[in-house]
Amino acid sequence: MKEVFLYGEQIGKGNLILVNAEHRLKSEPKKKELEKITSHYGEVFLKRQVSRMMFHIFHELQCFDEIVPISGYRSFEEQRILYENSRKEKGEDFTKKYVARPNHSEHQTGLAVDLAENTENIDFLCPHFPRKGMCQKFREKASLYGFIERYPRDKEETTKIAEEPWHFRYVGYPHSEWMEKGNMTLEEYMEYLKTFKEGDQHLITTYKDREFELFYVPIEEKERKMVAIPDRTFCQASGDNEGGIVLTLWRNLL
Ligand code: DAL
Ligand code: ZN
Repeated sequence: MKEVFLYGEQIGKGNLILVNAEHRLKSEPKKKELEKITSHYGEVFLKRQVSRMMFHIFHELQCFDEIVPISGYRSFEEQRILYENSRKEKGEDFTKKYVARPNHSEHQTGLAVDLAENTENIDFLCPHFPRKGMCQKFREKASLYGFIERYPRDKEETTKIAEEPWHFRYVGYPHSEWMEKGNMTLEEYMEYLKTFKEGDQHLITTYKDREFELFYVPIEEKERKMVAIPDRTFCQASGDNEGGIVLTLWRNLL
């Protein structure tokens, strides 16, 4: 067994952090953690791993000319201006449905991206990303690369945001696959993961020659905890931006 130390300050960091109307962003990515998907597009930055995974999908689908990333990481100030302009130009109702308040937007995490079908006159706030053609092919590949469609139809009650077929959020594999299979939003998935506490039953899933094991460790902000994990196991930790850390372990079966 090997020891892994978890720290309370990790709660607000990682691929699974829940940022929404009720969960305020705790930490922003540093400039050096951000990267462009390719030089093909304008100033759209994402966290390095997210950007690379997005590039892999684009490369596999060869959709560089058909799909355009139009917004990735936004600073607090950019989200504030977007929010204020939307209120002025589109009104309160529209803004509540489609634009998160500053410090409550996933775009400030560097884990979210808005995609548009490459046509003339792309709408920046509500771009067209249809459920057909190349855009649909992208949607069907997304979960394999760790992305989810974050604001689906019929889940507005949970997400508090209207359907946004263009907004994709990186959560990492195998979370993306579990969420898709279970038709769960990030809000629902994080509640679900809390039922797999360290020491109780863990969530086990396999994909190809890999076994994944997931569990949740509640932690206080100033606390440090030690978790023992088996040897020859990879481990990734992500905060939930609330009160705990999700551990994702994986091992090769072959
Ligand atoms: N459009 C999403 C909800 C945002 O502003 O973060
Ligand atoms: Zn978005």
